[in-house]
Order: sequence, then C-alpha cells, then structure tokens
Amino acid sequence: MVAVKAPVFVDVDTGVDDALALIYLLASPDAHVVGIASTGGNVAVEQVCENNFGLLELCRITDVPVSKGSSETLAGAILASSAVHGTRGLGYADLPPSKRRLTDYDSAAAWVHAAHDFAGELIGVATAPLTNLALALRAEPALPTLLRRLVIMGGAYDYRGNTNPVTEWNIGFDPEAAAEVFAAWSVNAVAPQQLPILCGLDLTRRIAMTPEHLARLATAAGSNPANPLIRVIEDATRFYMEAYHGLGHGFVAHLHDPLAAAAALDPQLITTQAATVDVELTGTLTRGMTVTDWSGRWGREPNAHIGVGVDPLVFFDRFIERVGPFARRLDAN
Ligand code: BDR
Ligand code: CA
Repeated sequence: MVAVKAPVFVDVDTGVDDALALIYLLASPDAHVVGIASTGGNVAVEQVCENNFGLLELCRITDVPVSKGSSETLAGAILASSAVHGTRGLGYADLPPSKRRLTDYDSAAAWVHAAHDFAGELIGVATAPLTNLALALRAEPALPTLLRRLVIMGGAYDYRGNTNPVTEWNIGFDPEAAAEVFAAWSVNAVAPQQLPILCGLDLTRRIAMTPEHLARLATAAGSNPANPLIRVIEDATRFYMEAYHGLGHGFVAHLHDPLAAAAALDPQLITTQAATVDVELTGTLTRGMTVTDWSGRWGREPNAHIGVGVDPLVFFDRFIERVGPFARRLDAN
C-alpha cells in the first residue's frame, strides 16, 4: 500500500539531533518535506543553512527549499552556539559540499507561504528557537488556524532545564519568541487538535540513543561501514554522546528533535495533557523558563498539549526501521 504523504514544514537549528530529525522526516514514507526554515541556535544561522544543504545533498533530495532566518533573537541578541554539537553543528561529521541556493524569501516568510500553500494540511515541526515562527505569526496572525498540526521541541514542563537550572535551550535562546508563539495559540480559536504539541525535556531526555542503537541502525542499513549516511550519523552522534557523557548523562545521545519529528507524523507515539503554558521573561534566575498551569489557577484556556509519556522502545524501533532502509537505498543507488 502506498502511504499518503503529509506535507511537513520543519524549522531547525541543525545541530546533531536536528539532523537526525530531518533524516527521519526525509526517510518517512508518510511525509513530504515541503520546506526547511533555518534558525540560528545550536550554531549561527549561516552554518545551519550550510548543514541543511549538506544533509539534502547527502540524502540526494533535490526539491526541498531551504530558507535562512534571522541572525538575531527578537530582543536583538546574537547568542553563542551550543557546545554539545561541535563548532559546525554536526560533531565529527563532514557533509558533502553543495551548490544549492537559499530561497529569495526568509524563514518567517517560508512558514507563511507553506501554511497558505497547504492550508489545513500542513504539519509544522519546530526543533529550534522560535524566532522565525514568532516573526511568521506577526506577519500572518491566522497561521494557527492554517496549520493542521504543530509540534515543538522545547521547554521543560515538569523537569529541570538543560541550559540553566530551569530553562531548556530552544525556549531560553529566544524567550520573547516562545512567549509570542504560545500566546498566539491562546487568542486564536483553533480546534483542540490544532493546539501545539510540546515535547519538552521531561519526555525527550528519555529518548537516549546508545551505541547499541547505532549498531542496530547500521545493520538495518546493510552493514556497509562505508555507507555515507550511516557514517555521518555515527560521526555526528559520537561527538554528541561524548558531550553528554561529559555532562554526566552517560554515553548516550538524547534525541530531543527526532522525537518531536516522529510525534509530528504520529501523535499517538506520545501521551499528552492539555494545559496553559507561558514563558518567564523577567525573572533574574528564571528567564526563559516554561511555566505550566497544570491546575488551571490562571483561569485561562489550555494553549498546548504537553507531552507527558513516551515509550522509547517504540520510538527507536520506528527510527531504525525508517532510517536504516533509507540509508541502504542511498548506498545502493
Ligand atoms: C534542544 O536544544 C538543542 O540543542 C537541540 O537541538 C534541541 O532542539 C534540546 O534542548
Ligand atoms: Ca534543535
């Protein structure tokens, strides 16, 4: 049976786990990636664009437009990159060079174009700071009603932060943007299934990839040590695992962004709870924290479905069964 392909627009700050999320989407028979927005975060936005081009080259995908986003946060800051992804964002991996060109419109406009081109059908996935999505919402306030679904990797809803004690990276990088995005769904009358699905650290830290998972992936790809996609995945992930090890998590790689990508294609992969979320913008210790009103004390309607449960075994089986054969096909051609 031929899978129906859902249009997917993805906003990334590529980044090892963003790269794995992109590869997952490109490998998925039920997804058609219609555009990639590049956002500065894990590395500067120029490097994010280069990484996205290199990954498309590696996966021999020719028809996916890549846009460049703002080089500043909404508050005008140009922030430092994340150490866990390496200076170029892909750890020890080398991506093929590319002569591709960026779209002549930016990432915010790309969100708006895609939402109109696929009105009511588009699945949005954001695994980066929310700068460009917030700019898109300023340009097109009806965006929430145009999307079929939005899944965001960001926040820590009942868990500690990974950037400072209470702040997750994507939200803490551009708190004003995250606040604008969450507020946009609060004021728009959208169907319950159109509220954003938030995959925070509570959930994504449970998706801990180990060297055994990588070995299973290589086997599923045909066990050729020279397989170009598997090599990039292994070289990128090894760096990421070393960084996580250095942070005291063990020799694992938390696949934050791939979980969001997988949940975007199949929300049944996680369990969620509806709640109201806002972002702390002024706290001297807590700026960028996601504050969740689990008990309804604010008296505001829920503006999100917060991921509260996931089975990592199901996720990894699916990741390997999609990405392995995709890598094998690339190797064979
Ligand atoms: C998020 O921060 C980034 O470093 C990762 O790519 C992921 O999107 C996890 O907090
Ligand atoms: Ca990311």
